[in-house]
Amino acid sequence: MPKVLALETSCDESAAAVVEQRGGRLFVLSHRIASQIEEHAQWGGVVPEIASRRHVEALPHLIDAALDEADQSVADLDAVAATVTPGLVGALMVGSLTGRTLAALHGKPFMGVHHLEAHLASVRLAASPPKLPYVVLLVSGGHTELILVDKDGDFHRLGRSHDDAAGEAFDKVARLLGLAYPGGPAIQAAAKAGDPKRFSLPKGRVSRPEGGFYPYDFSFSGLKTAMLRQVESLRAEGGAFPLQDLAASFEQVVVDVLVERSLRCCHDQNQSTLVMVGGVAANARLREQMERQGRERGIAIHLAPLAFCTDNAAMVGAAALGRLQSGWNSSSLKLGVSARWPLESGEELYSKEPRF
Ligand code: KG4
Ligand code: ZN
Repeated sequence: MPKVLALETSCDESAAAVVEQRGGRLFVLSHRIASQIEEHAQWGGVVPEIASRRHVEALPHLIDAALDEADQSVADLDAVAATVTPGLVGALMVGSLTGRTLAALHGKPFMGVHHLEAHLASVRLAASPPKLPYVVLLVSGGHTELILVDKDGDFHRLGRSHDDAAGEAFDKVARLLGLAYPGGPAIQAAAKAGDPKRFSLPKGRVSRPEGGFYPYDFSFSGLKTAMLRQVESLRAEGGAFPLQDLAASFEQVVVDVLVERSLRCCHDQNQSTLVMVGGVAANARLREQMERQGRERGIAIHLAPLAFCTDNAAMVGAAALGRLQSGWNSSSLKLGVSARWPLESGEELYSKEPRF
């Protein structure tokens, strides 16, 4: 049964995992994450130089711990995988070089993985993974996209954000409210006891030049500005600051937009399955409302397991096993890293003469 060691270092989490495929199912034999969030929190966001250094320090220990827990050595495995794009170049380099070195030392294939393909594959770590085709809402710190994965597993982007990603909006609004980084979990906690209907906030529609709106696209910059105006006027008025109501109203409007546009997209495209992955997919209100409204409209909702929504290495292993199973070559050891690369061109990562 194929087994891989997988590494993830694209941003501020260093992670290693061992994932095995048995029959049609994937099993996470071990997974370890070292978050650098506390160190970046004092700067209000990720500092690339610090991220790279921390990956160098953490990764060897995480790999040892993951292999130990899975009771495997690299010699027992079928491949070594690492995220190679998109992300912070210095950070990606740490995982990619470590992965390529281990693969070369042990004579194993190396699989360079696209980070978004890994997020998409995270749903296959669930107990009952969805069957193709389906629509995916990918909501993370860097992306808000609706993607159709067709019956052959090919990706077709149907919608996207024209400015900030949903996770970025959570992070920026948290900062505005004086909450900690990362903003998603902080807003979720503050919102719990708040009134989600207290403030009315814009849903950010994107106009078409020829009139009307792009039905599956997103814009969060207007919402961010509306929050700023609201906070400014509340501060000017004085009195108790309604932090919980502000957090709840913001969280609710983001959830409404994501749920409405995703389910509408499924309906229009005649798709009966919606998958939700990425860091923001960890949000409790979003998970609950997507499942409920999906049920009401007859759309099957498959959520990435909570532990594999935010960045982790198990999803990187899932993506690599998916490629191996579909008969793809391994990546060249000459494959480097890239800050950006389109998801639709992921096959380039397995070419003999890679473009980066
Ligand atoms: O997928 P991820 O770990 O990294 C990227 O690839 O971007 O996503 C991180 C993003 C951050 O913006 C964070 O604030 C958001 O996911 N996030 C959440 C929650 N947990 C993490 N947003 C809303 N609610 C959460 N519970
Ligand atoms: Zn991510």
